Amino acid sequence: MKLSKIMLLAVALMVLISAQATAAGDAAAGEAKSQACAGCHGAAGVSAMTSFPILAGQFEDYLFNALSQYKSGGRKNAIMTGIAAGLSKQDMRDLAAYYTALEGVYSLNLPE
Ligand code: HEC
Repeated sequence: MKLSKIMLLAVALMVLISAQATAAGDAAAGEAKSQACAGCHGAAGVSAMTSFPILAGQFEDYLFNALSQYKSGGRKNAIMTGIAAGLSKQDMRDLAAYYTALEGVYSLNLPE
């Protein structure tokens, strides 16, 4: 009885660890996938146009959540809803890992 409980715990731990491994984003894979985004969001995630948000240096969770929400309909935008529809969860994680690693524009424009 005791041993089977330990075995169960070990299996649960292994499942948890492998789930985390697949959950991690791969920045190199994300870079390849970002070709489809560069036209609007800029070659290095820094768009020159104010209508397209800068993705470079943004928090990874934020990027992943934004993409997930476009896909689920929680966040609506005519352009991004269509784009996110074609992305898998892993695509989103890879893209988020890629953009978060890029140098962003750290200007908060806080009032003095
Ligand atoms: C045709 C232009 C276009 C393309 C291509 C495009 N986007 Fe976007 N993206 C936009 C616009 C416009 C917004 C702002 C939408 C809004 O107001 O919610 C946006 C918003 C986003 C946001 C939310 C940013 C924030 O600060 O909240 C993320 C993340 C994002 N795009 C990722 C991507 C990724 C990843 C790709 C490629 C797979 C991509 N986009 C391709 C136009 C584009």
